[in-house]
Amino acid sequence: MKTIIEPFRIKTVEPIRLTTFEERQALLQAAHYNTFLLKSDDVIIDLLTDSGTSAMSAMQWSVLMRGDESYAGSPSYQRFKSAVNELMPFKHILPTHQGRAAESILFSLIGGEGKVIPSNTHFDTTRSNVEASGAEAHDLVIDEGMDPALEHPFKGNMDIAKLDAFLRANKGHVPCVMTTITNNAGGGQPVSMDNIRRTGELAHKYGVPFFIDSCRFAENAYFIKLREPGFSKTTVSDIVRMMFSHADGMTMSAKKDAFANIGGWLALNDDALAEKARSRLIQIEGFPTYGGLAGRDLEAIAQGLSEIVDEDYLAYRLRTCEYVVEQLVALGVPVVLPAGGHAVFVDARAWLPHIPPLEYPGQAVVAGLYEYGGIRSCEIGTVMFGRKTDGTEEAAAMDLVRLAMPRRVYTQSHADCVVEVFAELNKVKETLTGFRIIEEPLSLRHFTSKFQRIASV
Ligand code: F0G
Repeated sequence: MKTIIEPFRIKTVEPIRLTTFEERQALLQAAHYNTFLLKSDDVIIDLLTDSGTSAMSAMQWSVLMRGDESYAGSPSYQRFKSAVNELMPFKHILPTHQGRAAESILFSLIGGEGKVIPSNTHFDTTRSNVEASGAEAHDLVIDEGMDPALEHPFKGNMDIAKLDAFLRANKGHVPCVMTTITNNAGGGQPVSMDNIRRTGELAHKYGVPFFIDSCRFAENAYFIKLREPGFSKTTVSDIVRMMFSHADGMTMSAKKDAFANIGGWLALNDDALAEKARSRLIQIEGFPTYGGLAGRDLEAIAQGLSEIVDEDYLAYRLRTCEYVVEQLVALGVPVVLPAGGHAVFVDARAWLPHIPPLEYPGQAVVAGLYEYGGIRSCEIGTVMFGRKTDGTEEAAAMDLVRLAMPRRVYTQSHADCVVEVFAELNKVKETLTGFRIIEEPLSLRHFTSKFQRIASV
């Protein structure tokens, strides 16, 4: 069979409200051209994020009833912990309400003034939590990872030589090394097993612990199976266990590769650090056997972890983005190559060269996709990263637009529709104009900033 079908059938549906071009123009204007400020009912295909938007399976819905809501010692926690340990053999597993809470706990304990934390690329919440502690976040992805059009099997890899120099130059100031799998901010690109191993070994050589930001660990593992020599016959579960065997801990958002609508965890091997983390968890999230979650959420995560490593699912999952990318390439729309795991990333700077980075070409694409097709996407560029902590502004390294695919939610006809909207937009792209920001918060401005369209000349 040539077509890689969705390996599930639909039992429950949510209707989508269809809107007209004129309606969407008015709705977007009322949302100050920030698609985060739209009502989701006004969106036809919502590709804002793959986080918390998964369709749960019949089995996940059924185990929700088994959720035990005891304050302490719930069997749901035991099932959650066993499911995590089946794949990630860490000693201490602390459930949190989502990934950023795990980051906040970790960096509040190991971050602080004068500390520097390297990663392949920190995601925005990770960076923000590092910086909130007073520490600095540094991105050391390989150069290939910064070139959207360049094909490379593992564009999420850490630059090992740069990391070595960094660790040497900052001895005594690096509380941990991190790697994000897959590299979300860099295009959903995977990190190879070899790179994970070498990053861990290098960190350990300098006496520094190695943590994995693991949101999309199963997608990363499947990329390793497909692309890294020596892994084609290894099961994804074994690849996952091998990836984490190199690390001392992990932060996790269960809203991604655990098929849950909420949840996360912090995992650690260090007993003393875990002790401190548990105290902090109790302060801000909850008792260590539920953290920030209900017992039923822990059950959904446990079940989700057993489903996410299914290789038929992962084949379909990676094919979804690849399918859209192939067709965008055929249309001549510049995209990050090769296709990432959870999202298609359009190179807005290359597609709309008439809009300078400080007029946010990514935001112009985001607005266009909504007006022309009711598609919600997300700018990952100068709007998200362009504002420096001192309040000045400069162009981000890339101006990308992310179309993130919720797990098990949309079908191939939705993907075809996305491509058709791009074809429409491609015909009128010279008419798209840039934006200026008229109101912005002090940090994480992409969520709430208000924009004004710059009139075309
Ligand atoms: N790390 C990465 C790589 C992420 O992609 C995210 C979330 C987080 C950490 C934080 O997890 O949302 O559970 O608190 N990314 C979402 C996204 C929001 O749309 O990419 P969280």
